[in-house]
Amino acid sequence: MTFAATMLTLYPEMFPGPLGVSLAGRARDDGKWSLEVVQIRDFAIDKHRTVDDTPAGGGAGMVLRADVLGASIDHARTHNPVSPIIAMTPRGKPLTQARVRELASGPGVIILCGRFEGFDERIFAARGVEEVSIGDIVLSGGEPAAIMLLDACIRLLPGVMGAASSGTEESFEQGLLEYPHYTRPVEWEGRTIPEVLRSGDHAKIAGWRKAQSEIDTRLRRPDLWERHQGARVQSASGARHEQKEPG
Ligand code: ADE
Repeated sequence: MTFAATMLTLYPEMFPGPLGVSLAGRARDDGKWSLEVVQIRDFAIDKHRTVDDTPAGGGAGMVLRADVLGASIDHARTHNPVSPIIAMTPRGKPLTQARVRELASGPGVIILCGRFEGFDERIFAARGVEEVSIGDIVLSGGEPAAIMLLDACIRLLPGVMGAASSGTEESFEQGLLEYPHYTRPVEWEGRTIPEVLRSGDHAKIAGWRKAQSEIDTRLRRPDLWERHQGARVQSASGARHEQKEPG
């Protein structure tokens, strides 16, 4: 089945952009995903093709109009009838690999890319739009964020990455950062590859990688580490609970 992506944007020329090359580009050529790009301005209702207006209550910037957005979403729905609708916004719920996996296993996605100060809030409830952020940074628009989200989904589509990389050992998949990698030359500018990786002892290598993954997560991402520890404690007590029940 083809994963159907629909982009709603004021800058259609930004697509496919990086998604037209490499893994994503080949996957699109192979029909593993499709892209429809919709110009939001085509759904403006006045002769000046206005898409935004001043914020109610005053203040800086402009706000994308709910009526124009609503009409563009309704149009997208006719081509992409069941996919979730996502708006890229720094006010959204942070994107996670778990949500990316869910999206990638579904029919596709309709993505609303904002510009200016943002969207008229009424659009979210009116069209069942999920607000998603790609991190605590502010971009000049949702397009680069949408490209990130799509890229993360596309690489997980069946047959896109190939058998060699199932993706299950990667950062975040086990709730931890991935272990560090090395390749030849064995020595470079006086720096060597850790001895254990050259030992050929697969059990020892696996142990080293697990330890590195834990150390790096603890030092670099204490938030992930805390969650991982919490999940471990919970699953251990769940296991004890299950063992007790039969007796
Ligand atoms: N648009 C502007 N900043 C954004 C962010 N951090 N995430 C998603 N969309 C955005």
